[in-house]
Amino acid sequence: MNALDHPTGAPAPAPTSAVATPADGSVAQWTDRYSHAVMDTFGPPQRVLVRGEGAYVWDADGKRYLDLLAGIAVNALGHAHPTLTAAVSAQLGTLGHVSNFFGTPTQIALAERLLALAEAPEGSRVFFTNSGTEANEAAFKMTRRTGRTRVLALQGGFHGRTMGALALTSKAAYREPFEPLPGGVEFVAFDDVAALEEAFSPAAVAVRGEVAALVVEPVQGEAGVRSLSPGYLVAARELTARHGALLVLDEVQTGVGRTGSWFAYQQPEVGGGIVPDVVTLAKGLGGGFPVGAVVAYGERAATLLGRGQHGTTFGGNPVAAAAALATLGVIERDGLLENARTVGALLRDGIAGAGNPLVDGVRGRGLLLAVQLARPVAADVARAALDAGFVVNAVAPDAIRLAPPLILTPDQARDVVAFFATVTVPEEPAASAPARAASGTADPAPTTVPTTRSS
Ligand SMILES: Cc1ncc(COP(=O)(O)O)c(C=O)c1O
Repeated sequence: MNALDHPTGAPAPAPTSAVATPADGSVAQWTDRYSHAVMDTFGPPQRVLVRGEGAYVWDADGKRYLDLLAGIAVNALGHAHPTLTAAVSAQLGTLGHVSNFFGTPTQIALAERLLALAEAPEGSRVFFTNSGTEANEAAFKMTRRTGRTRVLALQGGFHGRTMGALALTSKAAYREPFEPLPGGVEFVAFDDVAALEEAFSPAAVAVRGEVAALVVEPVQGEAGVRSLSPGYLVAARELTARHGALLVLDEVQTGVGRTGSWFAYQQPEVGGGIVPDVVTLAKGLGGGFPVGAVVAYGERAATLLGRGQHGTTFGGNPVAAAAALATLGVIERDGLLENARTVGALLRDGIAGAGNPLVDGVRGRGLLLAVQLARPVAADVARAALDAGFVVNAVAPDAIRLAPPLILTPDQARDVVAFFATVTVPEEPAASAPARAASGTADPAPTTVPTTRSS
C-alpha cells in the first residue's frame, strides 16, 4: 500500500481544513480574528503564516520569508519536508495512537535510536513526553526520587512553563505570578565554578542538605545564547558525582543537531567528554511534530521513576515517534550536523566580519547563534528583518537569535549576512515596540523594547 493511501484502500480523503490562501483573508484580517479567538498570552502575532517549504515560509498576504527561527529551534528539516511528511502520514494511516498499556515498533525503535545517539551505557532508558517542559518536569520528579530535595539550577536558565520546570527557571517575572512553586530549588551564578563548589561545600550541605541534582543548559538559549566556559560541565560532573547528585542537562534547545552535534555536551569543548545522568530533549526532535524525551543514563537514573510514578497519555505516541525517527534519519542521511557547523560558521563569521557598526559580535555554536547588537534595538532589527523577508528573534533587548533549519544553504546564509551587513535602525529605540518580537511572549516587565521568550 502506498504510504499516503487510506488503509481501506480508498484514496485519502481531502483534508477537512484546506491550507489558507490569501483569498481566505489577509494578514490583517487573520490577526484581527486571532485577537478575538486566541488567549492573549503571546501578544499579537507578527504575521499570520499559511505555508512553508524548505527554509521559507509565506504569510497570508503571499509574502515570503527566510525562516531563521524555525519555530524556535524546532523545524530541523525546514518546512514540509517530504520524508517527514510521508513518515507521519504513513504512521497515522497505519496506527495513530495507542495507550501506554501497549508498545509500538516506532516508539521502541526511537528509544533505541536515542540511546545509541547518546552513547548511553548499559541499563539506560528513555521516557517520552510531548514537549520540553514535560521532559524537564519528568526529570524534576526523578530528582525527588533520590530521597533528596535540594536542586541546583543556573541563573538565567530557562526550563519551561509548567510548575516544576518553572521552579527550575530563574527569571522572576515568569515565576512570581505563580508562586508558590515546588520548593527546594536554589539558583547558582551562571558559569561560576566557585559558586558551584560553594553550593556543594560542607557548610552549605550542613545547612541546606545534600544536593539531589544540578540542572543546566549547555548553552542557555532563552537567556540570549550564552555558552558555558569549557571546563564548567567537567567541574559540574566531578562535583555532582562526588556528592552522589544527578547531573541533568537540558538539551531541549541545543539537542538534535542544533549546535552541530547530536547533543551539545558531546562536543569536547562543551562537555569535555562527560557522561551526564539525564538529558532532556524536545524542540528539534520531531522536526515540527510535538515530541520530547528524557534520556536516563545508566541503571540508577533509569530506575528512579518506578511503575505508576509518572505517565502521559500522548508521550511515546507512534506518530510522534515516527516523526522523530524520520527527522533523525534525515539529519544523518543528509549530513546536517556537518551542515549546521559549516553554515553556522558562515553566518557567524560573515555577520561578525561585515563591518556594520550596529553589530558587536556573534556568539553561539552551529546553528544556534546570537548577534550581539551595539545598542538595545533588537526589536527594531527584528522588525526590519521581517520587512526585508527574514524571520529572526529578538531574544534580548540587544541580541538577535538565529536558529534556522539545519538545511539552511550557504547561499541562504549569504543572504542573511547581506541583511546584517546593511541593516540600520533609528538612533533611539522605538517608544513602544509591539508586545512580541519574532518568537516570544512579551516580557511582562514594563520595558520599552521587549525582551522575548518562547513558548
Ligand atoms: C532549554 C529549554 N528547556 C525547556 C524549554 C521548554 O520547552 P517547551 O516550550 O517545549 O515546553 C525550552 C523552550 O524554549 C528551552 O529552551
